[in-house]
Amino acid sequence: MLQKPRGTRDFLPEEMERRRMIESTMRDQARRWGYREVCTPIFEELEIFTMRSGEGIIQEMYIFEDKGGRKLALRPEVTASVLRMYVNEARVIPKPLRWYYFSDCFRYERPQKGRYRQFWQFGVELIGADSALADAEVISVADAVLRAAGVGYELKVGHLAPMKQLLSSLDPRLQRSTMGFLDKRDFSGLESHLCSIHEEHLLDQLLGLATCSSLEDLFAITGSIPERTRIERLFQLLDLAGIDYSFNFGIARGLDYYTGMVFEGFADNLGAENQIIGGGAYRLAHLFGGDDVASCGFAIGFDRVVVSIGEVATARPIVIGIACTEDSRRYATEVAGLFRKEGICVLTDLSDRGLSTQLAHLSRDADIAIILGKRETEAGTVTLKNLHTGEQRELVVAEAIAEVKGSGNR
Ligand code: HAM
Repeated sequence: MLQKPRGTRDFLPEEMERRRMIESTMRDQARRWGYREVCTPIFEELEIFTMRSGEGIIQEMYIFEDKGGRKLALRPEVTASVLRMYVNEARVIPKPLRWYYFSDCFRYERPQKGRYRQFWQFGVELIGADSALADAEVISVADAVLRAAGVGYELKVGHLAPMKQLLSSLDPRLQRSTMGFLDKRDFSGLESHLCSIHEEHLLDQLLGLATCSSLEDLFAITGSIPERTRIERLFQLLDLAGIDYSFNFGIARGLDYYTGMVFEGFADNLGAENQIIGGGAYRLAHLFGGDDVASCGFAIGFDRVVVSIGEVATARPIVIGIACTEDSRRYATEVAGLFRKEGICVLTDLSDRGLSTQLAHLSRDADIAIILGKRETEAGTVTLKNLHTGEQRELVVAEAIAEVKGSGNR
């Protein structure tokens, strides 16, 4: 028996209905904040992602060459594509642009619970607003989307400036490797790393960044930095918006394009793979030939949201099944059409047998059967049979439609 590729999943109808319901709640929230959907190709020129996506992601990419010899990659994330699209299509549209996407991404990672090779991201990008207000809006949208979906999570917000300030004397490669230890909160690894590069004097200050719980403590470590006012304003705005967060100035993020505010969220009830969201302020457009526009955004790991929420009741609309005699087939087609026109789901029997066999088949999937025999066809009526209670009544079509509509969801 052939199997699906490792790290991918199949979704049966019940699961798809659950996923679509959660997705539509998330879309609805994004829409309420003025974000509109965009869509980019599932594969891009490899270069789009190698420019700033970071070592980790480059290692994990699905890369291939097409018949024209072009080096392409399945998107490991969507931000780079969205900014490439902005440069290609939307540079002249007045900013800020508020965009969102719901897209599948591909990373060649070791699969485990909550970590897949094909997974879906729900993300937003706010392009062309460079302010604490923009940073705070993006965090607020993220919080609204996750809360509306019913996810319990812990939000950690930081900023890259303090860390970069402390590491400013190191060359960029060493800065990045040092930030990696801090980001993973691997403090003993950080200590050995700093010893190995003879920078142990930075240890206490860096640990202070990752663990400080107030802005006073933060600026006591860094001294005055140019970003101070913006950082203070961001947290004032988050407080004003009633967002529940904690500080973490040790967040570095795995992608290399971030330039300012960064944030991450961790779901309460997931195992090792509990990071449910990541985002921040970044600059990418200039790398793709555009203006050096300030942007800010986030991506939510949709599959992790689905696991975190657990069971949700999905309201299933009533399903009608039509059973008819051969002579009433034309009438049955007409009746089915009238119900469908009203938005009602109608199954027609495929067994081509007697009425009782048809009813037996339909009772597996339908809630109500419509029985159409000689009498109903001549009188222009339908017999409505409740397949759960066995109750049945003969009605004219309009009455039958009204009755089904009145019975709501099951
Ligand atoms: P990221 O942190 O790489 O950020 O991914 C965002 C989220 O995608 C993660 O927090 C996680 O929930 C989910 N995720 C990542 N890898 C997997 C996987 N293998 N299986 C399941 N879920 C996964 C970005 O991708 C940035 N583009 C976010 C961003 C948008 N920054 C600014 N704008």
